[in-house]
Amino acid sequence: MDFELSAQEQEIVNQVREFTQKRLAPGVVERDEKSEFPLEAFKEFGNMGMYGLCYPQEFGGTDTGYLAYILAVEEVSKIDASFGIGFSVNTSLYGGSVMYSNATDEQKKRFLSPIASGKAIGSFGLTEASAGSDAAGQQTIATPDGDGYVLNGTKIFNTNGPLADYTVVYCLLDPSVGTKSMAAFVVEKGTPGFHVGKIENKMGIRSAQVSEMVLSNVKVSADQMIAKPGEGFKLAMKTLDGGRIGVGAQALGIAEGAFEIARDYLKQREQFGKPLFKQQYLAFKMAELYADIEKAKLVLYKAAKLKEAGKPFTTAAAIAKMTCTDVAMKVTTECVQMLGGNGYMKEYHVERMMRDAKITQIYEGTNEIQKLVISGGLFR
Ligand code: CAA
Repeated sequence: MDFELSAQEQEIVNQVREFTQKRLAPGVVERDEKSEFPLEAFKEFGNMGMYGLCYPQEFGGTDTGYLAYILAVEEVSKIDASFGIGFSVNTSLYGGSVMYSNATDEQKKRFLSPIASGKAIGSFGLTEASAGSDAAGQQTIATPDGDGYVLNGTKIFNTNGPLADYTVVYCLLDPSVGTKSMAAFVVEKGTPGFHVGKIENKMGIRSAQVSEMVLSNVKVSADQMIAKPGEGFKLAMKTLDGGRIGVGAQALGIAEGAFEIARDYLKQREQFGKPLFKQQYLAFKMAELYADIEKAKLVLYKAAKLKEAGKPFTTAAAIAKMTCTDVAMKVTTECVQMLGGNGYMKEYHVERMMRDAKITQIYEGTNEIQKLVISGGLFR
């Protein structure tokens, strides 16, 4: 096993670090408070080729690799986890839905290239009021209409929803046969009847834009169908496998960001006549958190490498997602505690990171769903 990053992967990390320091660190507290997404920075990051790292050049990507992409999500999330999830949904969930579908190359060029090359933003419409953990419980319906289809339904919790130029919409053609008729379409912003509904006011990742997406008699043509009836559910599941590695990376980045802040704090803050790190209780706590972070990193990179190598990775992705997100919650909570009263204050960042960490245990499959996926693999 090779534990070294390649020169190219290290270069991506360096580029992302420079970008986050310059473009994301300034104003991160204010964006959280105002729920404002740094759209210009998001576009700039796209122009750097970051949304195409794991996609082929023929579809607008740079073919750098899945681990490179995961490292980039991790790096941005050390500073701004809202940006991290916008990036991950754009790339893993929208991009993955198109890339891993049976769509034609022409459709992939049309629907993936603008995203991978950073010219447009994508979103993923799977979750509905009655289809959360039970993703099969879809009520969005596609009805054949002439050469195309008419879509009706409401998607909820769509990350990037209000920003997206393209949204993948999963739906059923015949509710009486359930997922056997599940398909997926790409719907473009501005299509009559397709609009942003309620914009969510959230506990964490406050600057990420998350909304309902409402479809009222939305006409789409047949060439917007990227998964035929019966292919949609498996496409959603395959796509979420990749997305879960992205969420793991986001969570690991949050944990590392908080850990670095706590380490600096323990070095400079003095109580009882010595720096805090000289209190063995705190030094040991940091040792435990560091070990947790390092363990999480191993399972995360393993999942990314399996995916990159085209090997089965469903279980590895679920383990990575569950491990990294639980570590993020633990590390951020402990960091708030170690910073004492200051940890509770916004300018020290760790309280935001703790709020941001919570959702990582919930979205893209709750950690209870990850246990279902892992145990399903064990006893198949
Ligand atoms: N890859 C390919 N195929 C898969 C698969 C995978 N990972 N997982 C399941 N399938 C296939 C199965 O093989 C089966 O195929 P057959 O019918 O041919 O046998 C079919 O799909 C149905 O599988 P299950 O019976 O296991 O399906 P289920 O209805 O019991 O559901 C589940 C399984 C794992 C619970 C699934 O519903 C699930 O993942 N739920 C969580 C949903 C989720 O993660 N939502 C996140 C939304 S996105 C989000 O959070 C966005 C955001 O903004 C950040």
